[in-house]
Amino acid sequence: MQSPRIRDDLSLLEGYHSPQVDVQIRLNTNESPIPPPQQWVEDLSEEIKKVEWNRYPDRLTNQLCNDIAEFHGVDPNMVFAANGSNEVIQSLLLTYGGFGRKASVFEPTYALHSHISAITGTEVIVGECNEDFAIESQTLQKVLEKRPNVLFLCSPNNPTGTVASREFVESAATQCAAVGTLLIVDEAYGEFSDWSAVDLVREGSQIAVTKTFSKTWSMAGIRLGYMIAPQVVVENVRTVVLPYHLDSVKQVAGSLALRHISDMRSRVELLVQERQRMAKKLLELPVQQWPSGANFILFRSVDNAQKTGEDLWEALLDRSILVRNCSSWPKLEGCLRVTIGTPEENDSFLAHLEAILG
Ligand SMILES: Cc1ncc(COP(=O)(O)O)c(C=O)c1O
Repeated sequence: MQSPRIRDDLSLLEGYHSPQVDVQIRLNTNESPIPPPQQWVEDLSEEIKKVEWNRYPDRLTNQLCNDIAEFHGVDPNMVFAANGSNEVIQSLLLTYGGFGRKASVFEPTYALHSHISAITGTEVIVGECNEDFAIESQTLQKVLEKRPNVLFLCSPNNPTGTVASREFVESAATQCAAVGTLLIVDEAYGEFSDWSAVDLVREGSQIAVTKTFSKTWSMAGIRLGYMIAPQVVVENVRTVVLPYHLDSVKQVAGSLALRHISDMRSRVELLVQERQRMAKKLLELPVQQWPSGANFILFRSVDNAQKTGEDLWEALLDRSILVRNCSSWPKLEGCLRVTIGTPEENDSFLAHLEAILG
């Protein structure tokens, strides 16, 4: 008997997983610590009663796209929704990447951009951020000389928290358009920062901005994300996506969430205030941290020789606090990433970190 053989290019690839450990304080996957409004839960329960379970969902997800379009002030034909922004990214790579094609990323960044590229057979071109985790113009130019089919910018960047300036993204968009590269701006954390590249998307532009309901909308459990892109990009992506990919419950859940915009904004505001408080408190500890425009902070012990990232991560875990261990990721020696939690969770994290670092 012979076992079926995995694709050669996948055999060395590891799956992408964040450890799911049973702890008291979970600050490792940038979820919202605050649940969505109770009214949303109640409305969803009512709407679920109306779902025609024997029928396929709306294939083009029209109502949801209309509601998302209204929220962003764009044409509904510029919206594509899928099962989390990861599926949006996968759909974009299936459409514009693939064997014989290239995607570029700037490390350190969200590992799934490279990972999904690899899964879709897309070659990955890696540019490097500078010491402050910004992307230099020369680095961008060098990467574009290799003619990638898509170029990822993550802003705010995960895991560094760095926000790319509007000027930089505008310039990247112009340079990408000149060489036929699709610029994908991943704004999973966009609402935590002070500007959005959605304004730059218009017919004729070559930008797709990906967004998610997982973070600011407190809906990681439902798996819903979307992109705003020129109509032609949306139409092209629809050619690769499976029929009826987005189930009826998800479609209605997203539409209902969009009735609670002010609630979402106050949750974001609270988390931004907590991020500022946490950053201020971290200044008093022997750690290095980087400015963040997201719902997390990247930090490391100033004495990495004495307390490695791994040591610190384990010491926090021993105290039932789970943060993300980024210490083996490119350019992130010793670094951990902590998600902003509730004020109580953040106080507890800070107190334990202080105790561990002496
Ligand atoms: C930068 C970035 N993009 C996309 C995602 C995926 O989000 P979703 O839950 O919508 O698939 C994440 C999740 O952590 C992320 O950090």
